Amino acid sequence: MKIVVIGATGTIGAPVVEALAARHEVIRASRHGRPAIDIDDPASIAAFYRELGVGSVDAVVCAAGAGRFRPLEELTDEDFAFSFASKLMGQINVVRRGIPHLRDNGSFTLTSGVLAQKPAPGSGAIAPVNAAVEAFARAAALELPRGLRINVVSPPWVRETLQKLGRDPAGGLPAADVARAYVAAVEGRQNGAVIDPAALA
Ligand SMILES: NC(=O)c1ccc[n+]([C@@H]2O[C@H](COP(=O)([O-])OP(=O)(O)OC[C@H]3O[C@@H](n4cnc5c(N)ncnc54)[C@H](OP(=O)(O)O)[C@@H]3O)[C@@H](O)[C@H]2O)c1
Repeated sequence: MKIVVIGATGTIGAPVVEALAARHEVIRASRHGRPAIDIDDPASIAAFYRELGVGSVDAVVCAAGAGRFRPLEELTDEDFAFSFASKLMGQINVVRRGIPHLRDNGSFTLTSGVLAQKPAPGSGAIAPVNAAVEAFARAAALELPRGLRINVVSPPWVRETLQKLGRDPAGGLPAADVARAYVAAVEGRQNGAVIDPAALA
């Protein structure tokens, strides 16, 4: 398969690329990559797909999209607007603009996160974004044409991320285990599923 991974250099995206590249051709995309894409910018998404061409790939994986983590009373209008524009609308637009560029029976795999189901203090903006990504995928799965599929991976805290944050990594799942859920979504037959990598590990 020919597979686009958006967020290819990230903590999650890099092991996803590594796992997929063993069996597939992978196009590594991000804001600073080649090809470049900024999912926060609809014009950048359109330009990215224009360059790829119509019906040119079998799968698009998105392991990118930002949200603001901050105490509820400190979250500003801009924090909410940013989080919804990046992680939610960014991924929705990757799907909306991407449909003509996927070959028949291709797939989209998006990213939500554990905070959708198990919010923590500080997740007032990001928890609803994650939940909405999952709701979008369930709804879109009912309507995608030509056998296209869409699924969401909902990562728990990743061990390497907790390490970077100076927190106890013991409660995190290794990024390589998280990556296996993306591979399962791309290579499997699920549609409209939310995949918990901890359940596969
Ligand atoms: N790590 C965790 O513990 C964890 C847990 C649950 C959910 N998640 C979710 O998983 C996703 C990836 O997280 P991560 O920890 O792997 O992030 P990360 O290490 O910061 O990597 C982000 C990746 O996405 C790219 N990127 C960032 N903004 C982008 C944009 N606007 N358009 C296109 N590419 C962009 C980055 O490269 P460039 O800088 O070149 O663009 C990089 O390749 C996020 O949505 C995050 O909320 C992460």
